[in-house]
Amino acid sequence: AGEEERYRPNFHFTPKEKWMNDPNGMFYYNGYYHLFFQHYPDSTVWGPMHWGHAVSTDLLNWKELPIALYPGEEGYIFSGSAVVDHENTSGLSTNDAPPVVAMYTIHDPEKEDKDQVDVETQGIAYSTDEGMTWTKYRDNPVIQNPGIRDFRDPKVVRDTIRNQWIMVLAAQDRAKFYRSDNLKDWEFLSDFGVNTGAHGGVWECPDFFPLTAGGTGETKWVLLQSLNPGGPNSGSATQYFIGDFDGTTFTLDPEFEVELNKRKAFWIDYGKDNYAGVTWSGIPGSDGRKLFIGWMSNWEYAQEVPTTAWRSAMTLPRELQLVKSGTAYQLVSQPIRELKDFRAKAIKKQNIALDAPFVYRSEKGPALSSTEIKLTLEGLGDSTYRFELYNTGGDTLSFGLNNAKKEFFMDRRKAGQTDFSEKFAAKISTAPRFSSADTLDMHIILDKTSAEVFYDNGTTVMTEVFFLKAPFDTFSLNAGDPGSTVKSIAIHQLKFN
Ligand code: FRU
Repeated sequence: AGEEERYRPNFHFTPKEKWMNDPNGMFYYNGYYHLFFQHYPDSTVWGPMHWGHAVSTDLLNWKELPIALYPGEEGYIFSGSAVVDHENTSGLSTNDAPPVVAMYTIHDPEKEDKDQVDVETQGIAYSTDEGMTWTKYRDNPVIQNPGIRDFRDPKVVRDTIRNQWIMVLAAQDRAKFYRSDNLKDWEFLSDFGVNTGAHGGVWECPDFFPLTAGGTGETKWVLLQSLNPGGPNSGSATQYFIGDFDGTTFTLDPEFEVELNKRKAFWIDYGKDNYAGVTWSGIPGSDGRKLFIGWMSNWEYAQEVPTTAWRSAMTLPRELQLVKSGTAYQLVSQPIRELKDFRAKAIKKQNIALDAPFVYRSEKGPALSSTEIKLTLEGLGDSTYRFELYNTGGDTLSFGLNNAKKEFFMDRRKAGQTDFSEKFAAKISTAPRFSSADTLDMHIILDKTSAEVFYDNGTTVMTEVFFLKAPFDTFSLNAGDPGSTVKSIAIHQLKFN
């Protein structure tokens, strides 16, 4: 691969060429996970939006397909979602196959230029060949603009209890809920979110779904709500809310609300590079997994990162789970279990005293650019546990836990190229630690240009990208107090086709 491909991740999805932002319209059908994405095929910066398209049978090897939706007279194709309409409630099927119906925002640049308010409306498109080719519905838009400038990113979900389609979209400082029987005629239900949660920027790309808690068996509704700017480490980020839905209105779970008042916001990821993430529809099986993917970038610098052939990658797909910690429910994220199928050689060790740093050199073992590391630390005190990755080029990425401050951190200030944007590595990113346990587990996913770190069983996640001079070849683990130990560590090489 040439210089152009130098920063291409090994296993995170990237478009072959040109600009990509939000994941869109993800659905599963007949063995295939579909992933669409905001795409501008003529440049490596944002422009008239299309929906790019890729498919996978395992969530890790992706095949890019022809562009699914092109902008037209009516405007650009902004973010949205897709569902398989099994019962053909839409009547859009012309054969035996159920139609797949995508709902997206039509963004009219001409109205935008004229400073009109009604720039954004909602449209649908459908496929009768399992998502391969798409037709825009002739009576678009299906939802007119009610006089709100930011009015976008519809996410459709089946409400199986009340046998209706529910749709949530973002309207500036709130989420708006709608219902439909046929995916074409939509009725407004309710608003959520004014004066609730984080409001440092415009709300975008919501997601809304029921989730059953492992321990209690109770089902709650989860609202994901991206916003830009206003993230915990500045720029774009995604918060979430947990509550109940009666078919019309979403209300916060009382215990969650108590915690929310203390924390101000719950974030799905505290790192700088996980935005506009939503979940797949139609995942089969009794376990009802909620599979999530995010755009691994940030509007602060997305258009300046130093790749030349394409711009930006998606996060690793993750499974979202609902857990009760203390009195309140919260959302945890785990790397998808499919990752296990790609493990090659591994190094495993146990009971290493941290009176001296633990150092791993990759020359004989798994490399550090397609790697999964799982470790558990024991006997934590009030000190700092620092994971440091480095190479002969002088690049360093460090992350870990400052347990005196009960704070996780990620520091990419010396991790390769940073000077393309002042905002890229202005500060060390931090995240609160909610657990007070004296053990810590970490699940680390490393690709050539990203680190995704899941702490405390996925309670706190930090995802950040970097652009190194050379691959990392070594890491060390330093503890500020000599009494702690690495109870276990496993370093897995990941291998992809
Ligand atoms: C989020 C977003 C969406 C919009 C899309 C346009 O990153 O601003 O709200 O639909 O990008 O590309």
